[in-house]
Amino acid sequence: MTSVPNTLAPFQDLTKPNLSVVVLAAGQGKRMKSALPKVLHPIAGKAMLAHVVDAANQLSPDQVCVIYGHGGEVVRAAFADQSLLWAKQEPQLGTGHAVLQAIPQLAPHGVTLVLYGDVPLIRAATLAKLVAIAKQNTLAWLTMRVKDPKGLGRILRDEGGKVTAIVEDKDATNEQRQIDEINTGFLACPTAWLAKWLPVLSNRNAQAEYYLTDILALAVAEGRKVETLSADTEFEIIGVNSKDQLAQLERVYQLENARQLMVQGVSLIDPARIDVRGTLTVGEDVSIDVNCIFEGQIHLAANVKIGANCILQNCIVGSGTEILPFTHIDSATIGCNARIGPYARLRPGTTLADEVHIGNFVEVKASVVGAGSKANHLSYVGDASVGKNVNIGAGTITCNYDGANKHRTVIEDNVHIGSDVQLIAPVTVGKGATIAAGTTVWKDASPGELTMNQKSQTTLPNWTRPSKKK
Ligand code: UD1
Ligand code: CA
Repeated sequence: MTSVPNTLAPFQDLTKPNLSVVVLAAGQGKRMKSALPKVLHPIAGKAMLAHVVDAANQLSPDQVCVIYGHGGEVVRAAFADQSLLWAKQEPQLGTGHAVLQAIPQLAPHGVTLVLYGDVPLIRAATLAKLVAIAKQNTLAWLTMRVKDPKGLGRILRDEGGKVTAIVEDKDATNEQRQIDEINTGFLACPTAWLAKWLPVLSNRNAQAEYYLTDILALAVAEGRKVETLSADTEFEIIGVNSKDQLAQLERVYQLENARQLMVQGVSLIDPARIDVRGTLTVGEDVSIDVNCIFEGQIHLAANVKIGANCILQNCIVGSGTEILPFTHIDSATIGCNARIGPYARLRPGTTLADEVHIGNFVEVKASVVGAGSKANHLSYVGDASVGKNVNIGAGTITCNYDGANKHRTVIEDNVHIGSDVQLIAPVTVGKGATIAAGTTVWKDASPGELTMNQKSQTTLPNWTRPSKKK
């Protein structure tokens, strides 16, 4: 049942205390009612297992071994770019049996920390405390007193308060079920102890499983030092078994993140109505109205104001810039004191200099717009280089696509483009040029001149509007 090591164990420096991490992620997660393995479901846009691996990596472990099972190939593929070890557990005979699968791949010395792929918000600081205790030749166990211990393993202590064993809810007596100190599952201890205890676990219990929790009693019987530690916050130890719990933990994460932003000085109109799925960094006096979503890496410089219902993905917003409601920004860089929206859309490859105004129903893609330029209404600016102090009239469109290839439009400094102009790329509008309203620009427009199409306006005398036949 023990799987063959799938990666060569890295070189071991025996003088350095080794830290191994085992992450249990073999459970099917039936209650998620999803084809996606449970540990790949996201919290704040990131797979639960990725949260756990990131927390582990903050401790600079020598190895991280993930125990996978059902649908595990998908899980492995999702982490293909990371140097993780993998051990398959099939069939799944319990948490003790799960950790046992990792043992052949772990350095035999040092300590091992056990984590769970479906308990995503565990903090590295808590794990570091467990590891520090384990390094003192101790079995370190994370426990917690909770209001509702139903279904969880209970911590048994003797009259002196010394921990003696863990009993699973299904195996507990009614008296033991009154205990409110529960097993979080997190533990750390010398790896050699795990290697000795795990193979001798018995499955004579209510679930016929090899319980990891039984190693506690083995440690006590051997006279090993056992210490318990309590997590500072309850959200750290909450596991996800259903979509409902996933959503609840998402709210916990977001509220905690919102609090951190406010500690940094961000004004949030409502901390319950912001979602950050990535990293949001901020300057001083940033304010964010309700229902905004931030994805990827976002930086908002000092005095940036974000209106309600905006979505910002991977972008940098310069100081003093205002993003008005219902604006969508994806992979763009915006200068200082700019004004974007309402209802603007900035697509990948957009770079806006200082004091640019992009107004309602204006879409900008793969374009550079110079300082002080404005496109205030109903325009498409794609694959364009726009100079400084350019005014782009309402309804102006860069016709960048000929059906096969994309072409660039160059609009030089101080150009004034009237309303409803089509710029047939590739085309250049020279510095200081003026383009009359309604012009289709299919040849380069001369700098400093007025360019227009020959059009005429006629009025037909005595014309009558058709009327419906009776
Ligand atoms: C386990 C603990 C219990 C604790 C609770 C906290 C044991 C015996 N019990 O109970 O004391 O209070 O967690 O949530 O450890 N897993 C595998 N392979 C298996 C079995 C489980 O990888 O064969 C993984 C699951 O994917 C899950 C974790 O281990 O991530 C816990 O398994 P679960 O079945 O949820 O354990 P509980 O019965 O809830
Ligand atoms: Ca569980």
